Amino acid sequence: MNKQLLEFQNEWTPIINEALANNVVKNSDQKTLGESMAYSVDAGGKRLRPLLTLATLKSLGIEINDMDLLPILSIELIHTYSLIHDDLPAMDNDDLRRGKPTNHMVFGSGMATLAGDGLQTLAFQWLVNNNLPINDQVKLVKALAQAAGPKGMVAGQGIDIFNEGKTKLDFKQLQTLHRRKTGDLIHYSVLAGIIIGHGDELKKELLKFADSFGLAFQIYDDILDVVGDKASLGKPVNQDQDKNTYTNLLGLAGAQKKLMETIKMGKKSLDKISQQIDISLLNSFFTYFELNIED
Ligand code: IPE
Ligand code: IPE
Ligand code: MG
Ligand code: MG
Ligand code: MG
Repeated sequence: MNKQLLEFQNEWTPIINEALANNVVKNSDQKTLGESMAYSVDAGGKRLRPLLTLATLKSLGIEINDMDLLPILSIELIHTYSLIHDDLPAMDNDDLRRGKPTNHMVFGSGMATLAGDGLQTLAFQWLVNNNLPINDQVKLVKALAQAAGPKGMVAGQGIDIFNEGKTKLDFKQLQTLHRRKTGDLIHYSVLAGIIIGHGDELKKELLKFADSFGLAFQIYDDILDVVGDKASLGKPVNQDQDKNTYTNLLGLAGAQKKLMETIKMGKKSLDKISQQIDISLLNSFFTYFELNIED
């Protein structure tokens, strides 16, 4: 991770974490449900998705210091819900997430399912309970519903579990799986910045950047399952043997090559708008991928 991304992350992560810590538990009327929701949200995580929204806003020249953060944090609630459900025994059956026992290990599968449900609906509440223009709120709701829903992230999760241990997807199908299960929420993260920051004239290239970053993110996640370690990732590794992943289809070197190609595509999209905005902060997100990547 380069200095610019590190500094941006160090500036905003404590602010994001505080806003989440202050606003999740109090939004539940059932004590254990609230604790279960807050448990996974407060367990940490890189907060890359809200950071991407904030970085998009900053790149568009919007003053972000005085903004109401909750609508920007909706994406982190959706993402955390997706992780809680992804870890359930009926899905990936994992016992460690964000360095802590998974939600269902602590609260049981029933409460973990409800914690995910609660976070999902709370996300939409935060999108319409703020001072943003109503028109922007509607656009955000529509965009998040599309990205997270049965043509977005949930479709990706469906493709994933339906085929696990059963069908070996070809490259094109695998790319679609990755775009849906991970890329769509990352696409939304940038789109939210475009909507709130009224950056329509840069939308096309910014979203192409988002799509390359999102695809690269899941390819890198597949690679980390092979070469990463549990302690630094805060989740188990070597879990993907029966799954449709880039490393299983293309081998480690093949997956790394695809990752580099995808990053190059994303950088190209940003280059196209480098005359209009300062692209350095968004470009720095590619340094999250710590590989020996040539420019
Ligand atoms: C993990 O996402 C799940 C994927 C979509 C690959 P992150 O790697 O962003 O997880 P956290 O939020 O940092 O825990
Ligand atoms: C998760 O993909 C994608 C979503 C949660 C939507 P993975 O199953 O690969 O994520 P990890 O590796 O458990 O974080
Ligand atoms: Mg999964
Ligand atoms: Mg998983
Ligand atoms: Mg994974």
